Amino acid sequence: MTELLNSTADATTASRIDADWWRQATVYQIYPRSFADANGDGIGDLPGIASRADYLARLGIDAVWLSPFYPSALADGGYDVADYRNVDPRLGTLDDFDAMLEALHAKGIKLIVDIVPNHSSDLHEWFQAALAAPKGSSERDRYVFRDGLGEKGELPPADWKSMFGGPAWTAVGDGQWYLHLFAPEQPDFNWHNEEVRADFLKTLRFWSDRGVDGFRVDVAHALAKDLPENLPSLAELDAMDRATGTHPLWDRDEVHDIYAGWRAVFNEYDPPRIAVAEAWVDPPSRRARYASAEGLGQAFNFDLLEADFDADAFREIIVDNLDQAAASGSSTTWVFSNHDVVRHATRYGLPPNGDRPRHYNRTWLLSGGTEPQVDVAAGLSRARAATMLMLALPGSAYLYQGEELGLGEVAEIPDLARQDPTFYRSPGFDVGRDGCRVPIPWSEAGDSFGFGPADAHLPQPQWFGSLSVEAQSGDPASTLNLYREALALRRRLQTDESLTWVPSDPEVLHLRRPNGWEAVTNFGPAAVPLPAGEVLLASGPIDGTGLPPATTVWLRA
Ligand code: NOJ
Ligand code: CA
Repeated sequence: MTELLNSTADATTASRIDADWWRQATVYQIYPRSFADANGDGIGDLPGIASRADYLARLGIDAVWLSPFYPSALADGGYDVADYRNVDPRLGTLDDFDAMLEALHAKGIKLIVDIVPNHSSDLHEWFQAALAAPKGSSERDRYVFRDGLGEKGELPPADWKSMFGGPAWTAVGDGQWYLHLFAPEQPDFNWHNEEVRADFLKTLRFWSDRGVDGFRVDVAHALAKDLPENLPSLAELDAMDRATGTHPLWDRDEVHDIYAGWRAVFNEYDPPRIAVAEAWVDPPSRRARYASAEGLGQAFNFDLLEADFDADAFREIIVDNLDQAAASGSSTTWVFSNHDVVRHATRYGLPPNGDRPRHYNRTWLLSGGTEPQVDVAAGLSRARAATMLMLALPGSAYLYQGEELGLGEVAEIPDLARQDPTFYRSPGFDVGRDGCRVPIPWSEAGDSFGFGPADAHLPQPQWFGSLSVEAQSGDPASTLNLYREALALRRRLQTDESLTWVPSDPEVLHLRRPNGWEAVTNFGPAAVPLPAGEVLLASGPIDGTGLPPATTVWLRA
């Protein structure tokens, strides 16, 4: 009996520990079309990912977050989903998905898939049915249709702009228009519709039953909309306060009713499926609602991603986010790069950006990367230092494929080769996000630097060869080996416990974890004395006497 009790207690403890795996995880984002191409059609695929499971295990990550791999016309890089419970035939089959998941799980790597609930593709069977059905039909009720203005509805119902530029309402030819906060190929769902709600629960169960460990929720703050009969103008909409939970489009309080339903589904599984919200909300304190245990459980904070390489800015962000996570009972997230922003090795090689948000700011790319000139060496040193600081923080760290190679943004993509809708919808203002989505280099030479046996779907620059996995694997000082060593150490040293700040020079951040793990980053222009302690790892060369500029060192006191 005692034995039985003990074993039950052990099982309960094990399950509880496992349920918390996400809190301090290192999650590696794969943009599937640009990771590895197994069948040589120039597009990365699921068998390609499975074939790199060893690489991912050796890197030392805990989980993969897979950007959309569903059938899609790629009007927005896969964030226009035509079928939520299938695989894009160009990327593989459901069997390939299962094989990939098995290959990752066999290495102890969890899988988080991207779920896109704000909008579908215009090719989704429901939207096609809505187009074929008349005004007022139940088919149209699954999306946001409105009558146009003017005598025959020939004018849009409102002058709203989409997030990618251009109008947010598109006419369907019978006097009605539909809402798309993003591209016209991405009609917004009507989340007041019960069928929409039920269908997403079905999708969450579909992937959970297949064994996925969690979900990244796209535009999580936009699902609940409340559009009055008389739509406000764009100017009125922009003037409305987003902090009250009552804005017609963004971050409405009742969005959390939806996520409470999702949480009930996640908790049907053991361990419960996890979720992380992509929610751009302001003030940041509103993030806690998404990160609550009754909701999605965790939310991205993009604050570091928007900050300059600056000690004060970093410290303030770290303190704020740790406070917020403590208040919500969640753990915080950290991220410098993803498929939407200029890679951080390049951002940090550009002049400081001040208060302007960076996430959609790619003005530098408009000159093909020549104006201003990027300081590649400085950018890489700062990126390495910043990453090592991030990896020493409590919370989960989200990495983006290729950052472990120190890859920079690719500026030199010919206009004709560009794919991102932002490029086509904001001519002359924004070249879009293709520069961080170029297929990553695995080998020094060859058709697509080892990405696959054919040319890649976005052109790779010549300088990719020297940054390839092959070129870096044997070099102990390479960025790849820095990531490997840092992630291995983090595995051993990371805990749930918070940090304290050790008094330091104003240009230096010096933090200490309760187990004696310390990280010291020099943000200033000159070397500073190296604090005492055993050096575990450094982001750049140190000679033992000083900590050079743009360098982080990990110490054990
Ligand atoms: C956020 C995704 O990260 C981005 O790539 C996409 O374009 C928008 N959501 C719309 O789905
Ligand atoms: Ca392929």
